[in-house]
Amino acid sequence: MSDKTFYVTTPIYYVNARPHIGHAYTTIVADVLARRHRLLGDDTFFLTGTDEHGQKIERSAAAAGIPPQQFADQVSKSFEDLWKRMGITNNDYIRTTSEKHKRGVQKLFSTLYERGFIYLASYTGSYCVSDEAFVDAPVGTPCPDCGRILEEVTEENFFFKLSEFQQPIIELIESGKLSITPESRRNEVLSFVRGGLKDLSISRSSFTWGIPVPEPAANLAAQKHVIYVWLDALANYMTALGYGSDDEALFQKFWPADLHLVGKEIIRFHCVYWPAFLLAAGLPLPKAVTAHGWLLFEDSKMSKSKGNIVRTETILDAFGDEVYGKQFPESAKHERDLFASDVLRYFLLREIPFGQDGSFSFDALITRYNADLANGYGNLVSRTLKLVETGLDGTFSDVHNMGFVVGIGATVDESVTAGRYSWTLGVDPGTGGPDPLWDASPSLEQAVDFYLESRSFSQAIELIAQAIKQVDGFLSESEPWKIAKDREAIARGRLNAVLYTAAESIRIITALLYPILPFATAKVWAQLGLGDIEVAARGGELKNLEWGGLKPGTQLGPLGPIFPRADKGLAQIMSDMENPTPVDTNPTDPAAAPPTTAPDAAPRTTTLDPVPVLPVGGSTALTTGPSDIVSHTHAKASGIFANESPAPVTTENGELTSPQITIDDFAKVELRVAQILVAERIPKADKLLRLEVDLGPDFPKRQILSGIAEWYEPDELIGRRIVVITNLAPRKMRGLESHGMLLAASHGENGKPVLATFGEDIALGSRLK
Ligand code: MSP
Repeated sequence: MSDKTFYVTTPIYYVNARPHIGHAYTTIVADVLARRHRLLGDDTFFLTGTDEHGQKIERSAAAAGIPPQQFADQVSKSFEDLWKRMGITNNDYIRTTSEKHKRGVQKLFSTLYERGFIYLASYTGSYCVSDEAFVDAPVGTPCPDCGRILEEVTEENFFFKLSEFQQPIIELIESGKLSITPESRRNEVLSFVRGGLKDLSISRSSFTWGIPVPEPAANLAAQKHVIYVWLDALANYMTALGYGSDDEALFQKFWPADLHLVGKEIIRFHCVYWPAFLLAAGLPLPKAVTAHGWLLFEDSKMSKSKGNIVRTETILDAFGDEVYGKQFPESAKHERDLFASDVLRYFLLREIPFGQDGSFSFDALITRYNADLANGYGNLVSRTLKLVETGLDGTFSDVHNMGFVVGIGATVDESVTAGRYSWTLGVDPGTGGPDPLWDASPSLEQAVDFYLESRSFSQAIELIAQAIKQVDGFLSESEPWKIAKDREAIARGRLNAVLYTAAESIRIITALLYPILPFATAKVWAQLGLGDIEVAARGGELKNLEWGGLKPGTQLGPLGPIFPRADKGLAQIMSDMENPTPVDTNPTDPAAAPPTTAPDAAPRTTTLDPVPVLPVGGSTALTTGPSDIVSHTHAKASGIFANESPAPVTTENGELTSPQITIDDFAKVELRVAQILVAERIPKADKLLRLEVDLGPDFPKRQILSGIAEWYEPDELIGRRIVVITNLAPRKMRGLESHGMLLAASHGENGKPVLATFGEDIALGSRLK
């Protein structure tokens, strides 16, 4: 192990919304960097977590009808669960509602107060609840950052003397002591700071969901104050290491952070406020902040409020089931997830030049997967190792370098001399100037290393992809499958040389790909007969990649497919999972209403068939089953009332409402009281419950599948009296028949289905009319 430490952080994610692939992107980048530093031997600490206080969360919890802590627990768990599913290697998971964090934040506040940087004053101004930021623009106008309407806040607040830090921050950035990349973001921060810094309000008293301002400062104020959520949140980077606790060993070891990885929209908080707080507290500053761009979907930033979200779960589920299902049985579902996670990692890092915005599309994901992973790396590994197994009994007799596979284990110069060098080194993404590698004659390993170090993931991967093509080309030219047919000793020697050259190239390529594709490379490593790649990473075998690391006599491990091809239709499957359209066009099925995306829909499901859940209780929205997507438009709410005009109508006071219906229309829907007898989960369908309901002596019992598994435990449903739409045509989902539909209201921002039930005793089978 080197004597270096490396501490990398992601922003802590707000718990007002469940994770989407934008969040996964940041976490993936941090994981790649952490894995890389671990393999370099650096003592590495990788932190992620959730940001759980503030007005935004308080409001979201109120809208969901649950206490903020319970709300935060649920959403925080969905982030943590996702990172586990994806095999993310964070060393800690910080939650800002943890006691450890609260103590640390109060200590930081007290330190700032004791050092004279906090005072009490009255504030009236504009506040953007979505960004949790005070904004210098008139109340009632759109927030200059996110466009939401600014609210007026008049409060007695504690202020932080930010204005005193203008010059120190400029000096820090200009001297490079605080590195901000890319360059464009550095300039943006500098011009913001040069524009002048006003003192910053760092407490709020109009709501309570936060960490209380500690004494003695608290005694100055007439009311109770909670600490401003950004001061609370930023401190996570230190509190996770024990700052302010009885055990500050990790803090001593890892602080200051080597790198805060952030999205470009929160650069100001990290590069202005955070350094100012730390300077004021007399604490060391982070060494670097780097900002990545946004993931766009359908041309705009993926976000909860726009409803253009893609869930990581969709990709894990779809790739897991459809592509890796055969390879890994149901019992090895976690392996499927990890392979699918590799696919997403590769795609995001290859496709989006780091620092820039990038569009996401399912088609592009499949195309890239098939081209680079299935036909590229996966195919190269399979065809080489199969030949080693059949032609050489699974082992090499000698070390060779045929010298054809250039750029690997050779320098660029040698490669060029050999006339085979084909990688293009272009413009340095960090500076926009000529690539510093251009004249440096690096080997492939050095070039990849350089690009990873400068976070130019896309360039690093492109180089590796070209190397893969070169090895492929070498194999095609050398035609080892023909040599293998010749049993002569000379031919066997040549076969050994050709295949060793390819396999050793694969070893080096695999080591280089490890931080990006940790799970697929683990499988390849084992197939090469090299054992556990994690052990190799820890043992330093993935760095200093000398030619000849694959020793003669090493026996290949068991072979098997790495990246089976994905059918083009998978893009449609994923798209349907995100925006399910009913498979059943039966006009009497309310699920036939076209779904639209909820701002904060629950994670999408593996189930492609929408399960109808019809809301009651004031909501006119239709939810479409397992994905629990609340329709925010009433357009074509045509399911039940198929003959009516599907268009929404506007009432006199301007509200959108459903088209009017006659009593006869309503009479077409048969609603009856039922009791749940059996409720159980359905394997492979995370959102679906299988229910058996009793409709009283006049009707047979029936089975209904309902997309409420995420919200209700089976046990709590048994015995409940509910309302069922009984004359809905039966339909099949996951091979099971569903006959009827439960009535539920769609509640809160998450569209939680709340089952309609009765306050009085009521006979089973009674009709509602
Ligand atoms: N809670 C604050 C951060 C506090 S850090 C002390 C916050 N949370 S957030 O959940 O809104 O966003 C956190 C991060 O998620 C962003 O900075 C960014 O890294 C990532 N992303 C969220 N949406 C994204 C995209 N559409 N695209 C790429 N990254 C995105 O801000």
